[in-house]
Amino acid sequence: MKVKKKKGLEFCVQLDPARKQKLQKKLFDWYVIHQRELPWRKVKDPYSVWISEVMLQQTQVQTVIPYYLRFLKSFPTIGHLAKANLQHLLRVWAGLGYYSRARNLRQAARKIIQDHNGRFPESYEGVLALPGIGRYTAGAISSIAFNQRYPALDGNAARVLTRLFKLRGDPKSAGLHALLWKCAQELIPQSNPGDFNQALMELGATLCSPRRPACLRCPWQAECLARKEGIQELLPEKRTSLVAEKSQWAVAVIFHNQRVLIVRRTEGKLLRDFWEFPGGEFNEVGNLKSALAKKIWRDFGLRVRLRNRLTTIKHAITKRRITLLVYQAELKTSMLKVPHTQTVRWVRLDELKKYPFASASSQVVKALKSMIC
Ligand code: ADE
Repeated sequence: MKVKKKKGLEFCVQLDPARKQKLQKKLFDWYVIHQRELPWRKVKDPYSVWISEVMLQQTQVQTVIPYYLRFLKSFPTIGHLAKANLQHLLRVWAGLGYYSRARNLRQAARKIIQDHNGRFPESYEGVLALPGIGRYTAGAISSIAFNQRYPALDGNAARVLTRLFKLRGDPKSAGLHALLWKCAQELIPQSNPGDFNQALMELGATLCSPRRPACLRCPWQAECLARKEGIQELLPEKRTSLVAEKSQWAVAVIFHNQRVLIVRRTEGKLLRDFWEFPGGEFNEVGNLKSALAKKIWRDFGLRVRLRNRLTTIKHAITKRRITLLVYQAELKTSMLKVPHTQTVRWVRLDELKKYPFASASSQVVKALKSMIC
C-alpha cells in the first residue's frame, strides 16, 4: 500500500489544539506513574544526558545501565573525557559495539573544551555541530537538558506515531521519515519537551511493542487510529528483509613461553585500536588450517603448527553472520619478524584483561579464561 504523504502530512500538522492537548495530557499522566526508574533520569545535566543517549542509540536499556554508570565513574566530566586515553576509553566501552561512538564522544569533548570553554553548547545548532551527534541526539539533549522544543524520534517513538496516526509505508523511507519527524515536532508541548520526548519513547519501549502491543494499558488507546481499525500489529509496515551474508573467519591462539600473540587493529576504520588474535577471513578455502598457517607466516613471519579447535564463535554484525573458528597453535620457529611492539604483543593470559578486545575476540578471551580457571 502506498503512503498518502500529502494527506498524512496535512492531517498531522494540522492537529487541532484541543486534540493535541488531550494527547499530551494523557501521555504525561501515564508517564508520571509508569516511567521506568533509570539512572540517567535522575539528572538533567547535558553531559549525562549526552552519554546516556549515545549509548542508547544502538543498545537496549538494560544493557546500557551498567555501562553508563561505569563510564561516568571513569570519566565524570567533559574534561576527563577529553583527556581520556583511547585504550582506556575503548576498554570501558568494550561490549557496547559501534565503537566510533566512543571515539566521537572523546572528539566532541575536545571540541567543547576548545570551542566552548568546556561548557556544553546550549544552542541546538551548537549541539548538532559536535562529532557523532545527529538529529536524534541533538533533539534529546536540547529537550531534556535545555528544555527546548525539539523532537527526539527513536525507533520506538516512530512506531507509536505510525500507529497513532495510521501511517502506511516504511518509516525509513524518505517521505514517511520526514512526516514522522514533523508529527513529533508538532506534538511537543511548550513545557517539559524533554519529558514528552522521553514519554513517547517509553510508550514505544514498554507498551507499544512491535508485536502484541498492550493496547488495553495504553494512554492513547482511544485516540489510536490503527487500533480503531484493528491494524496496530500490521504497522509500521515492514521493509523487505535483507538476506544476511555469511562469512567464515579463523584465528590462532599461538602459545609460546606461557604467552599468546595478540595483534592491534590498525587498518581501516572498523574496530581500529582493538586487539585480536592473528588470522582473518577465509571463505571457500579447501584446507582452512593450512590457509591460516600460511597467512600467519605472511603477516608475521611465524611458522606455526595448528592444533585442535578451541572453540567456535557465532557472531552477527548488522547484515553479516560470522562464524569464527579458533585454533590452538604452537610456534615451530621463532623467526619473529615483529617483536613486542605497539601493534603486536606476546602477553600472558592474565594480562589479556588489560587490552580492549571487541565482541568476537573478547569471546575468545573468555573461552581461554574458562580453560585455565
Ligand atoms: N531511548 C533512548 N533514550 C531514551 C530516553 N531518554 N527515554 C526513553 N527511551 C529512550
